[in-house]
Amino acid sequence: MSTDVNVKLDALPGLDSDALPLEVKDLHVEFRTRNGIARAVNGVSFSLRAGETRAILGESGCGKSVTAQAIMGILDSPPGFVTGGEIRYRGVDLLKLREAQRRKVRANRIAMIFQDALSALNPVFTVGFQLAELFRKHRGMSRAASKARAVELLDLVKIPAAKQRVNEYPHQFSGGMRQRVMIAMALALDPEVLIADEPTTALDVTVQAQIMTLLAELQRERNMGLLLITHDMGVVADVADHISVMYAGRVIEEAPVRDIYESPSHPYTKGLLESIPRLDLKGQELSAIKGLPPLLTDIPKGCAFNPRCRYVQDACRQDPVPTLYQVAPVRSSACHFWKEVKADV
Ligand SMILES: Nc1ncnc2c1ncn2[C@@H]1O[C@H](COP(=O)(O)OP(=O)(O)O)[C@@H](O)[C@H]1O
Ligand SMILES: [Mg+2]
Repeated sequence: MSTDVNVKLDALPGLDSDALPLEVKDLHVEFRTRNGIARAVNGVSFSLRAGETRAILGESGCGKSVTAQAIMGILDSPPGFVTGGEIRYRGVDLLKLREAQRRKVRANRIAMIFQDALSALNPVFTVGFQLAELFRKHRGMSRAASKARAVELLDLVKIPAAKQRVNEYPHQFSGGMRQRVMIAMALALDPEVLIADEPTTALDVTVQAQIMTLLAELQRERNMGLLLITHDMGVVADVADHISVMYAGRVIEEAPVRDIYESPSHPYTKGLLESIPRLDLKGQELSAIKGLPPLLTDIPKGCAFNPRCRYVQDACRQDPVPTLYQVAPVRSSACHFWKEVKADV
């Protein structure tokens, strides 16, 4: 039996309804492995307002999922440890909470959907059972009432014939429909923040667009903060308000989405823009950036991007690591030569 119903959210120490739903400040995460210390997150900061969509963008292996896992409190630990920083939900530093309180925030306030719905859903229970369980466990609702809510949720995410499908198992759903089920589960308890980690990467292009449209719609209706994690710049253009570009565990550029597209101020962002996959070349990742991101056990000195950068100069190969320069009132870039990069269109 769960005691969750009895843990009151307003009992959170320092809860301030005027504070932002999510603020990450100078977050550090490392993995202590046999191959050394992987510095997966190295001082990441960003915030998220109600109703805002922020994309976290970057190639694979840049620390995006680890950032999300740290926010959710689901880091694989050991070997992963948060070694510094703050993660605030409405003013409350989640890193200072006891596990029971943390779990309560995770279920009710900050929810997450994953790339792979099939492994995130339980194969041995119907989707209706899995949805209904959330209401029974966290809201103390009756069996009948929670089943009715499950059907409503499937309707909400536009699964046709929800009344019938609620009795089916995850494997009976197509990839796109399964992703809708996962969205339904994430939204069940009305979270204020939704973290979507590569939510459409496993889907084909048409279905991708449908899922993104659905997510954007639900987010607007509910005024949620949406943290959209992706390696695909093509996905974020229509839905994101702000973008934080990550490289080697750091945010290297942050800006409103339109500014990023019009005048990227970091060579890495510029490279990502040039490699937006084209529909006619499906399957071939057309990369304009040479080489691969570094192993996070072995991050280059100075700017981590310097070995791949076409603007590289001596200063970039030496410490200190470039910090974020303010490019405009709400824009920043961690490139010593951002002015040249921005002017070079
Ligand atoms: N469970 C783990 N054990 C050890 N190292 C990990 C683990 N998860 C992540 N890492 C380290 O963190 C790095 C970043 O991973 P991740 O955040 O998943 O990247 P992405 O940006 O593709 O989401 C990995 O390349 C690896 O070095
Ligand atoms: Mg990832």
